[in-house]
Formats: sequence, C-alpha cells, structure tokens
Amino acid sequence: MNTRDNRLRPIWVDERDGALKVIDQRRLPHERVVLDLRSVDDVIAAIRAMVVRGAPLIGVAGAHGMVLAARAAAGGGQGSAGLQHEAARLAAARPTAVNLAWAVGRVLRAALSAADPIERVAQAAEAAEAITAEEVENCRRIGVHGLPIIEALAAVKGGRTVNVLTHCNAGWLACVEHGTATAPIYAACDRGIDLHVWVDETRPLNQGARLTAWELAERGVRHTVITDNAGGHLMQRGLVDLVIVGSDRTTAAGDVANKIGTYLKALAARDNHLPFYVALPSSTFDWELSDGVAGIPIEERDPEEVRWVQGWDGRRQARVRICPEKSPAANFAFDVTPARLVTGLITERGVSRATADDIRRLFPDKVK
Ligand code: MRU
Repeated sequence: MNTRDNRLRPIWVDERDGALKVIDQRRLPHERVVLDLRSVDDVIAAIRAMVVRGAPLIGVAGAHGMVLAARAAAGGGQGSAGLQHEAARLAAARPTAVNLAWAVGRVLRAALSAADPIERVAQAAEAAEAITAEEVENCRRIGVHGLPIIEALAAVKGGRTVNVLTHCNAGWLACVEHGTATAPIYAACDRGIDLHVWVDETRPLNQGARLTAWELAERGVRHTVITDNAGGHLMQRGLVDLVIVGSDRTTAAGDVANKIGTYLKALAARDNHLPFYVALPSSTFDWELSDGVAGIPIEERDPEEVRWVQGWDGRRQARVRICPEKSPAANFAFDVTPARLVTGLITERGVSRATADDIRRLFPDKVK
C-alpha cells in the first residue's frame, strides 16, 4: 500500500487500450496529473523530462516502452533491426540509472526470442510485467532486510525517536511500490517504531521537498523538510541516527551513484560516525564496473533547472528565476559515493558490506 487510502502507483497499463499511464511527477505534490504514453517517443520524452524518474521506475517505463515498440513493429512490419533501434533509443533516454538499459535489454531479448511479430508483443508484455512485479517484490524485501537496522537503533535509544535522514526521492514514486530507501522506513512505522525523517529538499528539482515529503505525509510518517546543506549541522548536533538513500547505479565493488549531494551526506555521516546505508534492488547494480568515480556516466541536465525554481503560488504552478539573467549555471544530476564511505547495501537478498567480496556473497550468480 503506497498511500493510506489506495494502491496508487506511479505507472500502470490501461487494459482497455494498452496505453501506458503515468503520474506526471513534475506536477506533484500540488497537482495529480495522469498522462497517457502511446509510443516509444512518448516514453523517451517522459523519461527525459522526468515525468517519470527514479532508477527502478525508469527501468519499468523503459520495459513498457519496449512493449509499445513491439506493438508498433507488428503494426508496421518492422523486423528485429527496427526493434533493436528502438531499444537503443529508449536505453539512451537518460545515462546514469543502469536500470533503464538493463530493463530494455531484457525485454528486447524476450521479444526477439519469438519470430512472429504478434508473439513478440506477447513476449515483450510478459517480460515487462515480470520486471514490474519483481521490482515490487524486491522493494518489499528491501523493507524486510532494512527493518532490523532501524529496530537495533530504536533498541539502543530505548524507544526514543529514531531520526533518519534521506536525500532525493527513493520512495514508491521512484519505484512502483514501497520504494527503496523508504521501504525500511515504512516497515518500521508499520511496526510502531517512533521514527522521524529529515527530508533533504534536493535541489534543483526538489524531489525531496516535493515527492518524499508528500509520500511521507500520505503515510502519516513524521518528517521535516530541510535544505540540502543542513544535514551536517544536524549530525553534529546528534539529531541524526542514520542516513538511508537510494542509488541509480552501484558498481560490483560498492561505489554508489545517486542524486547530486549524496556524496557530501556520506562524508558528513562518516565525520560524525553515523551509519550511511544505500538501499537498492539488484537491477541497480552495474556488474561490469568496479571503479564508480571513473566509470559511471554522470548526467548533465539543462542549466535552466538550476537558474529557475518551480512551485505553487496558491493558485497554479509558477516558475521564477533565482539568479541574475546573465549568470550561467551548471547542472550535474548525480555524484558517486565511494564504497569506503558506505556502511552497507540493503538489497532484496539481504544487507552486504560495500565490498566486492561481500556483494559476491549475496549475488554469486550475478558477479562477473
Ligand atoms: O533524477 P532522478 O529524480 O531520477 O534521481 C533519482 C535518484 O537519485 C534516486 O535516489 C534513485 O534513482 C533511487 S530511486 C529508488
């Protein structure tokens, strides 16, 4: 259950006409707008513009985008080369979240396992549904394996409030259900643990202030929105017990790419001897990579996202420029936290240290 009153998901397929339905996350929390995606171009545009965002959800959207590609191929008499071309276009929509290329590749292989174009659509749809269901189950299990970390802190604190800090939105809006970083938080609240969440606003697009705060409010979880620069101060004051974040790409050696600013939170947590956990499904591991700082592609987005800020003016969405008209800006969307700063990785198979050996212990079938 994502919200108190229903099974709202950020993505679903309209069984009547096969359209891919998505919540436009750019408009949340002030407006709930649902868009219909009917073509590969629609899905690519939605991923690029961050109508849908968050690594697992980008993967799921890419998977369903391949179903639309197979359907168009069947209708247009396109062969394998056409499907492979559409897969390459989808996989390139955003560069950092490895889930996208992983999911698109898996659905492409499923589709190409059939010769008949109609059967390819069925194979693609089956694979996309399987990926969606797996991500829901992976996130539920991340909650199960992350809960003991919070329970242990609650025990140490003798039932006093456990304060968790999180960055960006790694909730159900970024997945399908439960979220990654939020899954242990929701599980702990469902267990009645007294918990409070510091929510980094997460400039420049404020996924924390807009999306994480909304999710937590919907679930009745106590939280406070803070500026991205406040976390270190709160840690020094003993007001943070634990940091949990998500990931867009984690290497086989435990280097973690996540929303810009995560690395600085990891440094502050280390300086204050605080646990820094990363929650991720196995679809977010890049099994080909070890050195994340050297190897993970970091998306650079439109500088206007930094120069302008969007919000609600009481009647509608409004956008204002915050810097002088002539001042340029740079917009790095992600950074890499080296494995040495990560206390542990919370996955669907359990918690591992951020080392190649311990990741291999949990994923012997995946590590190259
Ligand atoms: O640019 P975004 O909003 O797609 O970035 C999202 C994040 O960095 C999340 O923390 C990450 O994708 C994990 S989502 C479970």
